[in-house]
Amino acid sequence: MNNAQRIAALGLALAASATMASLLGSTAQAATLKSTSVKLPESTRVFPGDSAGAKAANSYCLMCHSVGMVMNQPDLGHAAWLVEVNKMKKVFKAPIPEEQVAVIADYIDGIKGKK
Ligand code: HEC
Repeated sequence: MNNAQRIAALGLALAASATMASLLGSTAQAATLKSTSVKLPESTRVFPGDSAGAKAANSYCLMCHSVGMVMNQPDLGHAAWLVEVNKMKKVFKAPIPEEQVAVIADYIDGIKGKK
């Protein structure tokens, strides 16, 4: 569905609900939507810590996939993490500033490096 179709579909849905409301007349109750707060475990949402590396990883590594993409990998060595971060930048076009590449690789090596 493209945007124009989405807008058309939304228009139809709105028209349908307006028709429903008028059919139901004065007894019609407006639907009440409620926001619910969903609390996900901290550890699965962001990279842990507040070091420069954690901040950089949180800024540049979560726009395309979750933190799990990194945390569920085997413990690689520093060199392998450097290759991986560069792959994200060069192959997948992650907008990581050049000077942040090593910062992020160091950080991830710290949490997912060879023990
Ligand atoms: C521009 C989007 C994008 C950004 C930003 C990004 N990645 Fe990825 N990443 C991908 C894609 C696409 C895949 C491959 C997904 C698949 O194969 O299903 C991937 C996969 C991975 C994998 C799995 C192994 C692999 O190579 O496929 C790891 C680990 C990973 N990314 C780490 C990172 C880290 C660390 C960062 C931050 C430095 C990062 N990603 C930022 C797009 C991105």
